[in-house]
Amino acid sequence: MRLENKVVLISGGASGIGAETARRVVREGGKAVLADRDEAKGRALAEELGASAAFAALDVTDEAAWQKAVAATVDSYGGLHGLLNAAGIGVRNSIEDCSLEEYRRVNDVNSMGTFLGCKSAIPAMARSGGGSIVNISSVLGLRGASYAMAYCASKGAVRSLTKNVAMHCAQMKYGIRCNSVHPGYIDTPMIAPRLSGTIDNMTGRQWLEALHPLGRLGRAEEVADMILFLLSDESTFSTGSEFVCDGGLTA
Ligand code: NAI
Repeated sequence: MRLENKVVLISGGASGIGAETARRVVREGGKAVLADRDEAKGRALAEELGASAAFAALDVTDEAAWQKAVAATVDSYGGLHGLLNAAGIGVRNSIEDCSLEEYRRVNDVNSMGTFLGCKSAIPAMARSGGGSIVNISSVLGLRGASYAMAYCASKGAVRSLTKNVAMHCAQMKYGIRCNSVHPGYIDTPMIAPRLSGTIDNMTGRQWLEALHPLGRLGRAEEVADMILFLLSDESTFSTGSEFVCDGGLTA
C-alpha cells in the first residue's frame, strides 16, 4: 500500500506509461484520475480499475479543462497529492523540414501541457498538504536527435520547467516535490509507427532496440515502477532531479 490515501491525477492516463501508472496507483491503495483526450480508452480503463479510479476529459493544451479536471478530482476524492504529466505526442522532423505549425503543435502538447498541468495542480496540492509532481520528459530531453527536433526541444523544456517548479515549491514551503522521468524507447502505441519499415538494413524495431545497450525496448511497466517510487513517500528527499530509465542508452 505504497500510495495509501493518495489521490493522483494522470494526464495521458488512457494509454501506455500513464495507464500502467494508474494501475499501480490503485493497486497500491491510492485513487487515480485518468485525464485524457481519448475518452473511450480512458473511460474503459477507469471502469476496469473500479471505485478507486475515475476518468476526466482533458486536452492538456486547454487551461480551463485542466482547472475542471483538478476541481473534479478534489470533489470526487477529497484532495490532490500527486500529478503525473504523461500526455505527449511524438513527431519526426529535422530543423530544416519542421514547419512552424508542427513545432507549435508538439510544444503545445508536450511542453505547454506540462506547464498548465503544474500550474493548475499546485494550489490544490498545497491545500492538500503537499505531494509529488512527476513530469515525463525523455532521453531526447537530455540529448539531441537529428530526426526529432521539435520533440527534443519540447522535452528539454519539460526537464527545465521541472527544476523551476521544484525550486518554487521548495521556496514556498508547499511540501510539493517535482521530478522529471527520462525514458528510452518504450514499447507503447506512441512508437508503434516506428517499428515497421527498414532503416540501415534493419527493421524499425531492431534499429530502436540496438540503441539500448540492454538490447531491447523498455516496457511501460518498467517506467511506471520508477514513477510509483517518485509519487510515493519513498522519494521524499528527491526534487528537481532527472530520473533516467533507458536500458543504458545515455550511458
Ligand atoms: P501513448 O501514446 O501510449 O500515450 C499517450 C497518451 O497521451 C494517450 O492516451 C493520448 O491520448 C494522450 N494525449 C496525447 N495528446 C493529448 C492531449 N493534447 N491532451 C490529453 N491527452 C493527450 O504514449 P506513451 O509512450 O505512454 O507516452 C507517455 C509519455 O512518455 C509521453 O509524454 C511521451 O512523450 C513520453 N515518452 C515516451 C517514450 C516512448 O518511447 N514510448 C520515450 C520517452 C518519453
